[in-house]
Amino acid sequence: MIKNFIVVASGKGGVGKSTVSLNLSVSLASQKYKVGLLDADIYGPSMPRMMGISEKPSADKNKKILPYNKFSIKAMSIGNMIPEDKAIIWRGAMASSAIKQLLNDVQWGDLDFLIIDLPPGTGDIQLSLCQNLSITGAVIVSTPQEVSLIDVRKAISMFKKVNVPILGIVQNMSYLESDGSKNYIFGKDGALKESEKQKFKFLGDIPINPEICKSCDNGKPIVINKKLELHKIFNEISNRLINTISNNKNTEVKITN
Ligand SMILES: Nc1ncnc2c1ncn2[C@@H]1O[C@H](COP(=O)(O)OP(=O)(O)OP(=O)(O)O)[C@@H](O)[C@H]1O
Ligand SMILES: [Mg+2]
Repeated sequence: MIKNFIVVASGKGGVGKSTVSLNLSVSLASQKYKVGLLDADIYGPSMPRMMGISEKPSADKNKKILPYNKFSIKAMSIGNMIPEDKAIIWRGAMASSAIKQLLNDVQWGDLDFLIIDLPPGTGDIQLSLCQNLSITGAVIVSTPQEVSLIDVRKAISMFKKVNVPILGIVQNMSYLESDGSKNYIFGKDGALKESEKQKFKFLGDIPINPEICKSCDNGKPIVINKKLELHKIFNEISNRLINTISNNKNTEVKITN
């Protein structure tokens, strides 16, 4: 059984959804939760590279696909089934059915959390997932920049329409620190202010750090490096997320009683 389905989303591309999905998953697993990570970005899957997995998946005797087991999480991506340099050309319906297969035909087993890394935008994949699954909630990732927030608002409005609760906003690429001072390259606190305005929980701030870039390319999530401040930052984000989920569950119980 999968207890919680969490989607990581943002209307905007390239703002760090996959980076947050992976590091959040590994952070939750380090707190003894059973975690799976599903890369739902059919057209631009990042997980094989970010997790350093190049082998093709195998199946069990019942023809269920076995998820990878690395960094204490289970993971699966369409990217593991096709060569890295081959583009997938599918219509929306085919892409949605591929996602359904990744959900149903993978032997996920019992999980506390299945983190689903969504593609950018508010298209077929996002909609069909939200309509076919009982999603616990969405984690929104944004940079502080207005150009990113415009698309984020669209994603939030889509989640509202399909009754997926917003669990909070992560502000990524908040600032670049050099010589002890912070440079707010994408503007200051745009996503924080948006979370206040829309009354969503602010889950945390991730600075721009070349180590994050390197870790994504090298296939090792940055959060495993306990010496870095980023380790603490991702753990704080996952703790706040867990608190929000348990608070939401308490509220739900109160309502049904
Ligand atoms: N805080 C950060 N500091 C430095 N580099 C970062 C940071 N966050 C993400 N990156 C880098 O930015 C790029 C985009 O990140 P990522 O792939 O996680 O974004 P995405 O939102 O999933 O993109 P897409 O919309 O294409 O799926 C990656 O190369 C990643 O390594
Ligand atoms: Mg991505």
